[in-house]
This record gives sequence, C-alpha cells and structure tokens, in this order.
Amino acid sequence: MAEMIVSKFFYKKEAAPLEYYKKNGNGYAALKKALAMKPDEVIAEVKKSNLRGRGGAGFPTGMKWSFIPKESKVPKYLVCNADESEPGTFKDRAIMTYSPHTMIEGMIIGCYAIGANKSYIYIRGEYVREAEYLEKALEEAYAAGMLGKNIMGSGFDCDMYVHRGAGAYICGEETGLLNSLEGKRGEPRVKPPFPAIKGAFGGPTIVNNVETLANIPWILNNGGEAFAKMGKYPNSGGTRLYCVSGHVNKPGIYEFECGKVTLRELIYDHCGGIRNGRKLKAVIPGGSSAPVLAAHELDIDLDVEPMMKAGTMLGSCGIIVIDDSWCAVKAIKRITHFYAHESCGQCTPCREGTRWLEDVLHRIEDGHGKEADLGLMLDVANNINGKTLCALGDAAAGPVLSFVQKFKHEFEEHIKGGKCPNA
Ligand SMILES: Cc1cc2nc3c(=O)[nH]c(=O)nc-3n(C[C@H](O)[C@H](O)[C@H](O)COP(=O)(O)O)c2cc1C
Repeated sequence: MAEMIVSKFFYKKEAAPLEYYKKNGNGYAALKKALAMKPDEVIAEVKKSNLRGRGGAGFPTGMKWSFIPKESKVPKYLVCNADESEPGTFKDRAIMTYSPHTMIEGMIIGCYAIGANKSYIYIRGEYVREAEYLEKALEEAYAAGMLGKNIMGSGFDCDMYVHRGAGAYICGEETGLLNSLEGKRGEPRVKPPFPAIKGAFGGPTIVNNVETLANIPWILNNGGEAFAKMGKYPNSGGTRLYCVSGHVNKPGIYEFECGKVTLRELIYDHCGGIRNGRKLKAVIPGGSSAPVLAAHELDIDLDVEPMMKAGTMLGSCGIIVIDDSWCAVKAIKRITHFYAHESCGQCTPCREGTRWLEDVLHRIEDGHGKEADLGLMLDVANNINGKTLCALGDAAAGPVLSFVQKFKHEFEEHIKGGKCPNA
C-alpha cells in the first residue's frame, strides 16, 4: 500500500488537536510553503498533481480552481462540501473526526490560490459531533494565527465558518448547497452560470469535497508530480478512500493508490470476502447512485475511467456489497425510496418519476406486479435520465435501469409468482 495520505490518523483518538498535527502531520508547513508562492503557482502545482475531485464527479481540481476569475468586484469564496449524504459513503466523517486540520489547511491553501478571504464548511445537520470537532479545530487555528488577519505574516487574511445544514441529500449538490448556505431552499440552480463564475452570494466560488481538500497539504509538501505518480492511470493521481459496507467480513474505510486495486481484490483480499459463507450477488461501487454491478463484474480497477467503461461510476467510492440472501427487487426499491424522498421537487421528471418508480417497485415486491411493469419502469427511468437540473434524477434512474437489466429474471419471478421467491 502507498503511504497513506488521508487516512494516516484514522481511529487515533489523540490525533485531532493542532498540537498532534504539528508533531505528526503536515502541521501547516504546506500552508507556509504555499504562502511563499504566487497563487498561480499553487494552482499549477495542484494541476500537475492530477487530483480529481473526491465528491462524486471526479472533476480535475486544479482545472476547477483555474476557472475562478483573477479580478472580481465581488468577494470570492471557497466552500467545503461536508454534506456527505450519498448512501454508502462515510469517509469525510472520519477525516473531520481524526484529521480536521488536514482539511482546514487544504482549505486555507485553496482560498489563497483563488483569492478568497472567506470560506465555509457546509456540514450535514446529522453530523453534530463532527461540527463540534471542526469548531474546536477552527478555534485552535485562529489562536495559532493560521486563520484570521495576516496569516503567518504573509499579509493574507482568511476567515472560516462552519455552517450546519438541516439534513437534505439535495444540499450535497453544489448549487443546492449554495442556496442553502444563503438561507434559501436547497434547490439546485440553473447552470450556467457555474459557481466558479457566480456562486455563493453572487461571488466566484469553488466547492470542493472534504477528501479533495484534505489532499492539498500533501501535494504542496511533496509536489504535484509525486502525487501524480501515485496511481495506475495517468490522469488520476494520489490515493482514494474506499468505503466498504454491506455483507463483507471486514467493512470499513480502505485507502489505496487510485486504480491500483480491483473490486475483487478489495472485497476478497482486504475485506475478508462475503460474510457467513454466502455468495456475492451484486456490488454498488460508487454510492447508491452508481449503476449496480453483478457478481461476475469484479475485475475492474477502482478508478474513475475504468468504472465508466464498465457502465457504472466510482462516484464517492461508497462500495455497497450485497450477498445472495438479498432480493434485487427489495434492494432497488429501498434505494428508489431514498431518491423519491430526497427529490427537491423542482423538476417534474424527477419529482413525479421517482415516486412513480417507487410505486411500481412496491407493487412488484408486494406480488401485484404486471407484465408491462418492467417496460414501464424503463420508460419512466429513461424520461428522468438527463432531463433534470441536477444529477439527482440520473442518480435515481441509473440504478433502476441497471438493476432491471442485470437482475431481470428476479423481477420476472416476482411478477409471475406473485411473491418474492426468497420469501
Ligand atoms: C444530488 C447530489 C448530491 C451530492 N452530494 C454530495 C455530497 O454529499 N458531498 C460531496 O462532496 N459532493 C456531493 N455531490 C457533488 C457536488 O455537487 C460537487 O460535484 C462536489 O462537491 C465537488 O467537489 P469535488 O470537485 O471536490 O469533488 C452531490 C451531487 C449531487 C448531484
């Protein structure tokens, strides 16, 4: 395994305070280094690293930062997306608990690079303790002169705030998040303009995931090239945190170089295989919005592009393992219920379509399915896919399409037999 970049301090209760970070971690040396560079040079280093966003879409971080206009009449902002609402994803929480200063240091460097003097951590409402840990870490950073006026004598000022959400999946979508931050309903915005041009409070804004930002200090300390060298594929540097949950013997968070481990190796060599001697049925590889893979589709490198080639996505690396005791219809019904509940209702295809899908799945599972239901589901899902303002619609439709395609026989058995064959 590569040197662990992000999970180095995980599960060490003593690791969160600034004192520990100074002795054992980057200790704000990366910030010091960044402040001695020109902002453009910092962005160039991040570009060189081939760091891709860890929030879901995998967009190159350096390129995103370079979209921020140099001159702006209104203030610019950097917002850390700590909403972590994708089912199956629990890595950001560990960073905030055990390594809050790594993320905060990455945020200050980001602010300096794009010319922002104000920064927000938007954290999901349910993460009460994590919000408290962050407040504590911010207090320490202010007291040590890493935040506030004239940071480390550089003349650069930066303030940072924790903003707690109220528990809505849609507020993880970056423009829904920005609306919520501004005190409005958490509904995604029409794009363009993208946040880099018009984001928080109308100012140019970068929204980055917690893990993305936690990689920044390492990149500054060791150089973008060293980061880019890690990983199997040329345009994807560094490591990833893979969150494994479900029916494995050893669920948890695993850090590996990007693409250097396959799904099969992760499940069988590192997570101890399927629990209770059962057989694997399916894997959802990138959080519940990723199309499902069947048990024979495990020899795929865990990185953005190989996953896309396999017709699914790496997303937020929330890997949900499902054994053969589970019914495919029940699994997708549960997922669809989530999306129907979390749809903000702004776009008709998503508002109406997700509920419709849930209703049809409900009746199939209850034994009242009709022969035409499979076609109906595909039709509804295809009428959501790509037809909404944000990707929540795709997140709901993609899994339904893939479950019906890969486990069609199970749906048919339910419809023909009038009940779940496993019941
Ligand atoms: C419905 C929806 C929910 C999302 N939830 C999250 C989330 O909880 N955390 C996150 O970092 N990104 C989430 N995203 C992705 C963000 O919109 C955005 O792409 C990300 O914060 C960018 O950061 P990155 O470039 O560092 O990955 C979500 C996207 C959608 C469409």
